[in-house]
Amino acid sequence: MSLLHVKEITLAYGKTGLFGLPRRLIPVLSNVSLTIDEGVCLGLLGSSGAGKSTLGKVILGLEKPSHGQIIFQGQDLYNMSASDRKQARRDLQVVFQDCYSSVNPRMTIEQIIGEPLDNYEIRSPSKQKHVIGELLEMVGLKAEDMAKYPNQFSGGQLQRINIARAIALKPKLIVLDESVSSLDMVTQTQILALLNDLKRSFGLSYLFITHNLEAAYFLSDRLAVLDRGELVEMFEEKEQILTSPHPTVQSLLQSVLADHPGNRKVRNVQQFT
Ligand SMILES: Nc1ncnc2c1ncn2[C@@H]1O[C@H](COP(=O)(O)OP(=O)(O)O)[C@@H](O)[C@H]1O
Ligand SMILES: [Mg+2]
Repeated sequence: MSLLHVKEITLAYGKTGLFGLPRRLIPVLSNVSLTIDEGVCLGLLGSSGAGKSTLGKVILGLEKPSHGQIIFQGQDLYNMSASDRKQARRDLQVVFQDCYSSVNPRMTIEQIIGEPLDNYEIRSPSKQKHVIGELLEMVGLKAEDMAKYPNQFSGGQLQRINIARAIALKPKLIVLDESVSSLDMVTQTQILALLNDLKRSFGLSYLFITHNLEAAYFLSDRLAVLDRGELVEMFEEKEQILTSPHPTVQSLLQSVLADHPGNRKVRNVQQFT
């Protein structure tokens, strides 16, 4: 059984017409189906506006689709009891692109990482500190960092803190929505390596949403391509994307090549593995 089964998801946003009437529905996702198995990273690629973040929100239970189902651990996410939903929220975590707005600047790192723990697990203050210190060390920071505030960290370090918060409850699936996209190249590479290590150590599954083919290629086992709300390609083996003739895939491949003047062979993408 798959950990996550996205079944025929369709979603349209209502747009108010002239003088407030009539409402026009703008289709954003059309009949999207995919699965994610345990311990697998599915890279979801597509250009800006393709509907990637909207699909991420639907999977996280934040945006009810007009049609279709999200089956998470065998249960319908939009049709479950309150207690099952609380458990599903625990097993489904997210790391967004903007590491700064994802944290409250007035909270210490201890409070930020402690928040999800407080919601689900009761511990003595000293045990809680110990767990938070361990989480910080897991993401390459120091236990002493828990006393600091977000403005004392770089973007890359803050993203490590967001990752520590996301793994605090030992989730099954993490949705990573452009989580490395606003970081510089060196920091991106480091955070991708960290995500890869955590995936292996804890058997985590990821939905890695990105417009960046190189990043997706590095981290993912399988790749899906979304274009204007439709899933146009699904590669069970990520290597298959390199030879796909699909025009959307071709333009993604071209954008990688355009970023690397002087190195114009498609096979260079493989150097990131
Ligand atoms: N809350 C919303 N209301 C209306 N339209 C939206 C909303 N959120 C996203 N959209 C539209 O849905 C489309 C897909 O957006 P999004 O999922 O953010 O794409 P991506 O993450 O691939 O860039 C875009 O055309 C966007 O303008
Ligand atoms: Mg997006």
